[in-house]
Amino acid sequence: MGKRQLNGHTRPFLKWAGNKYQIIDRIKQQLPEGKRLIEPFAGSGAVFLNTDYPRYLLTDTNNDLINLYNFLKKEGQEFIEYCRPLYSEKNNQEERYYALRDEFNSCSDSRRRSALFVYLNRHGYNGLCRYNKKGGYNVPFGRYKRPYFPEKEMVAFHLKAKRATFKYQDFQTTIKQAREGDVIYCDPPYVPLSPSANFTSYSSGGFDMELQQTLADIATQAAERNIPVLISNHKTKFTEEAYQAASDIKRFHVRRYISCNGNKRGKAGELLALFD
Ligand SMILES: C[S@@+](CC[C@H](N)C(=O)[O-])C[C@H]1O[C@@H](n2cnc3c(N)ncnc32)[C@H](O)[C@@H]1O
Repeated sequence: MGKRQLNGHTRPFLKWAGNKYQIIDRIKQQLPEGKRLIEPFAGSGAVFLNTDYPRYLLTDTNNDLINLYNFLKKEGQEFIEYCRPLYSEKNNQEERYYALRDEFNSCSDSRRRSALFVYLNRHGYNGLCRYNKKGGYNVPFGRYKRPYFPEKEMVAFHLKAKRATFKYQDFQTTIKQAREGDVIYCDPPYVPLSPSANFTSYSSGGFDMELQQTLADIATQAAERNIPVLISNHKTKFTEEAYQAASDIKRFHVRRYISCNGNKRGKAGELLALFD
């Protein structure tokens, strides 16, 4: 179990590129108190799971993710039992993986699709979530020995979800909906460390530098409306400039495990910019 717990923190049940589980304590130190925490880039919900706000609003433009969270919120153990049989020895074979991936891509039953998403997340290569231009999930088979069924983590998520609303929505809409008393934590797809390291395909659509700049601008505007915004990102020339209006920036290094290039795993400079 040791691997699944870090200083008593709650692990997200999904593997997610860029998840903030490793730096949760740094984020908590920087997050102001408030009545509601808003996460416009929900991902696996590492910050949601490890903070204690009275209420939460989590949004993301990955509709599979949001549908899954809503089923788990509503059904809890019943949904967990519905997912469990997918984690069988038989299903951990290349041929079965591609058959279930095909089923996912043509599935219009959103409950079944959500369960298949839980399956794909730990049977696909490197915990990636990637779609082609037509919106088809296209991650290859992961070849894991015995994928772990994250029951304990799904239960923890379900319990915490009572305080949360999950919505499929773009970050700009979400930030506009914030009111005084809210605190916003933004974890956008990372800006690339170099022009070639352009890993932005969490969901079809991508996230370009113009959007990164828009996020910095609307964070500045939200702070002017007395809504504090904390943004995570890589520490680069671009982010240092874009986040100039921040009242406080913390800079540090993190060991990263998911990268677009296996050879380049290592320490990356990160920052947390608070607009307050
Ligand atoms: C770095 S991940 C967030 C990780 C999360 N903090 C965690 O701990 O797992 C970025 C997320 O932003 C979402 N995303 C990408 N473009 C978006 C947009 N325009 N609006 C809202 N969410 C977006 C992706 O689907 C992805 O889940």
